[in-house]
Amino acid sequence: MKYVVAIIQPDRLDEVLDNLEKNEIHLVTVSTVLGRGRQRGVAEVYRSQKEAGSLLKKVRLEIAVNEDFVRPTVDAIIRGARTGKVGDGKIFVLDLGECIRIRTGETGSVAIG
Ligand SMILES: Nc1ncnc2c1ncn2[C@@H]1O[C@H](COP(=O)(O)OP(=O)(O)OP(=O)(O)O)[C@@H](O)[C@H]1O
Ligand SMILES: [Mg+2]
Repeated sequence: MKYVVAIIQPDRLDEVLDNLEKNEIHLVTVSTVLGRGRQRGVAEVYRSQKEAGSLLKKVRLEIAVNEDFVRPTVDAIIRGARTGKVGDGKIFVLDLGECIRIRTGETGSVAIG
């Protein structure tokens, strides 16, 4: 199991969610976050709303997936979020130790979705 965390431009969210749906990935957590990349917020201000100091508004997606879905998830995010400009975002793929569905007590791959 992997935990895919992606930081993307807010205006790419709809496109990314559409692509995830097309790849049968429906369960997702979305948050609004602040962040900065290697331009430290400077070269990118024209794309993103500037917030505190050098921080820009971004959207974070979190998706827990079984191994078979790692590639489709990453591909869907890239297809939806890539414009070729700085600040397109980043994807982190983490090993996921456990997943528990609270209602049923199911664990592991079955609990993911
Ligand atoms: N190494 C990192 N650690 C934590 N968060 C990061 C890291 N790199 C990027 N991020 C997050 O992702 C957002 C988007 O990053 P961004 O796309 O600007 O990456 P970049 O490395 O600067 O690449 P690019 O040159 O394409 O802009 C950042 O605003 C930040 O929130
Ligand atoms: Mg950047």
